[in-house]
Amino acid sequence: MTIEKIGVLGCGLMGAGIAQVCAQAGFETVVREIDQKFIDKGFALIEKNVNRAVEKGKISEKDKDAIWNRLKGTLELDDLRDCDLIIEAVVENLEVKNEMFTALDKICPEGTILASNTSSLTIMAMAASTNRPDRFCGLHFFNPVPVMKLVEVVKTIATSQETINRCSEFCKRLGKKAILAKDNSGFIVNRLLIPYLLDAIRVLEQGIATTEDIDTGMKLGLNYPMGPLTLLDFVGLDTTHSIANIMFEEYHEQRFAPPPLLKKMVLAGYYGRKSGKGFYDYSGEKPVPSDLGI
Ligand code: 3HC
Repeated sequence: MTIEKIGVLGCGLMGAGIAQVCAQAGFETVVREIDQKFIDKGFALIEKNVNRAVEKGKISEKDKDAIWNRLKGTLELDDLRDCDLIIEAVVENLEVKNEMFTALDKICPEGTILASNTSSLTIMAMAASTNRPDRFCGLHFFNPVPVMKLVEVVKTIATSQETINRCSEFCKRLGKKAILAKDNSGFIVNRLLIPYLLDAIRVLEQGIATTEDIDTGMKLGLNYPMGPLTLLDFVGLDTTHSIANIMFEEYHEQRFAPPPLLKKMVLAGYYGRKSGKGFYDYSGEKPVPSDLGI
């Protein structure tokens, strides 16, 4: 049974990116949101990305029209009933996610695979809310989805090998590289990335180095595309704080504990790029390090 029609839950940064790459790869794609304003915002982001690809000659005007013909937004969960694969990319709240999965489990045919793009929750905690844990897995994409080549395919103790095979094949059709991980909070990448990002905050908090020098160190010393504090602003400090809390709760290891500075910044509304201020201030022409009183 091949995967042809995709459902995406959530049209935020990740959901919109996932919907874009699916439609671009030739899949009929339906994105479900709770309010039309979120669909409009996500689709505006897709439009910007697709137009940029047209300008660069990476896709033709004809391809652009075909992408839009394959892409639909909806406010109804019911419109996802005939999807072969449904990928959830909503807020990191287990209750919110499970309410949707339980409803979809009831209306979707047997063959439909349900998947979550969660960054830190365990997949089994969601699969258990359905009667199809064998057809339930993790599909973890990376931001910005149209650019990042990786997808983590996550197998719980109940996921069938057939589900993993179908999802790995789907990732290949998206032009992504799939890697397989067992169902542990953070999978492979966030398990290594989150303690690294939190440590960068601790280095700043302890006055060991400046924002710019921490970033320059990791960029030039390791050839990373972004320094850790720039990456934190890019991922979102609120998002990182919530991921760290979930991982700390899961492992009870100090390395996953959010440092006080992160908590204070989230309370102050310094979410990073999306709010205009995080470790850097984005209000001017070029980002400048924020004065955090350290
Ligand atoms: N959306 C879509 N495309 C984008 C984009 C965006 N937000 N930002 C950049 N691009 C595209 C550009 O159009 C350009 O495309 P082209 O090659 O076709 O011309 C290409 O990416 C390179 O962009 P730029 O030249 O403008 O900028 P950079 O070379 O600095 O690259 C970057 C930007 C790709 C974001 C790079 O800095 C990078 O790779 N940063 C690290 C990103 C990262 O680590 N992501 C993972 C975050 S962790 C995560 O997602 C897990 C979650 O669970 C927390």
